[in-house]
Amino acid sequence: MDKFKFIDLFAGIGGFHQAMTNLGGECVFASEIDESAIKTYMNNYGIDSANDITKVKDEDIPAHDVLCAGFPCQAFSKAGKQLGFDDPTKGTLFFEIKRILLAKQPEYIVLENVRNLLSHDHHNTWSVIEEELDKAGYNIGVVVMSPHQLGIPQLRERVYILGIRKDVYDGKLVFDIPDRNDKSSLNAYEAGIFDSDVDEKYSISEQEEEVLTCWDEFYQGINLKVIGFPIWSSEFGATYPLDDYPDWKAEFCNKNRKLYEENKDFIDKWLKKWDNLSRFTPTNRKFEWQAGTSITSIWDGYIQFRPSGIRVKRPNAFPALVALVQIPVIGKYKRRLTPREAARLQSFPETFVPDENDFQAYKQFGNAVNVNCVEYLSKQLLQYGHLKDDE
Ligand SMILES: C[S@@+](CC[C@H](N)C(=O)[O-])C[C@H]1O[C@@H](n2cnc3c(N)ncnc32)[C@H](O)[C@@H]1O
Repeated sequence: MDKFKFIDLFAGIGGFHQAMTNLGGECVFASEIDESAIKTYMNNYGIDSANDITKVKDEDIPAHDVLCAGFPCQAFSKAGKQLGFDDPTKGTLFFEIKRILLAKQPEYIVLENVRNLLSHDHHNTWSVIEEELDKAGYNIGVVVMSPHQLGIPQLRERVYILGIRKDVYDGKLVFDIPDRNDKSSLNAYEAGIFDSDVDEKYSISEQEEEVLTCWDEFYQGINLKVIGFPIWSSEFGATYPLDDYPDWKAEFCNKNRKLYEENKDFIDKWLKKWDNLSRFTPTNRKFEWQAGTSITSIWDGYIQFRPSGIRVKRPNAFPALVALVQIPVIGKYKRRLTPREAARLQSFPETFVPDENDFQAYKQFGNAVNVNCVEYLSKQLLQYGHLKDDE
């Protein structure tokens, strides 16, 4: 494949950069406004990405073959259209992409966003994007894909918009994608994600261990193994009226009350042993078992300390890493995922140097695009234009 040039908009720490470089690309421009992401980008690629794309003039963006962007999802004003403005995207970050496409006419585009982009604002956001890319002269294919489809143990569905200039190829863009429903072969413990020797600072605290031990006892003791509702311990034995609650909430309360009645002997003893959970924070008094019957103990699952309670998931794949809080706990190891392990879940190479501040590193990996997904789809996209593999 020929060497090609790409630009990396909303660059973050360069998930696109990694994928495009692997495919033989050279980054000729990157744009980012977050200071710590800019530092990480410089540290890893030697490229200064510090600029606000809304302030960059067309002529300051070098010519390129591929435009990459994991752009923030924003609603477009419907009022604009009704009032007869000709550009409903104006003032949004998508507008910057469109502006650069019109000015630079790259052959290919690779965009990524949350899956919700397709349904956001009653599908208005998506129909505007589709129409505007079409008007800008691009033929697009849309793929929803998650790293677990490539054997990477992370469930992270994202929408990928893959496009090519219509004068280059105007037929249907078809992408070969592995089955989304097949999660059977996934096992994070066997996927080479976890390190065996990890700094003590990632261990869960004594208090967290106590909370999880308590809830594990609860799960072992009750008669229900598939729990389809959140456990709210405050409802055990409660009788106050639920008339003022919305239906969904009253239903959850009733299910908790019924569970209590059916397991009264055990739950009473359990509550007594754990001082009515009085030592726990209110969020730690709530529990969500989302692992079906695939595991039989909390310590075999992945755990998240969420505002809505403690959530346990099956160990086949991590829930999507998201920016900031709620770093998943690996039950088996009684510790949190490390930044290096987060890098692996996002398919960044071992040579990648994460931000030295863990908080920033988690945030950056949580915001990033999965490298292997981009590479897998872009490789197929390139075949439709002049960058196709030599026969
Ligand atoms: C979802 S993240 C993209 C992450 C990236 N794809 C990666 O792999 O790391 C969106 C990024 O857009 C950046 N951003 C937001 N507004 C921007 C602007 N006006 N100019 C440049 N970057 C911007 C944010 O700081 C954020 O890092």
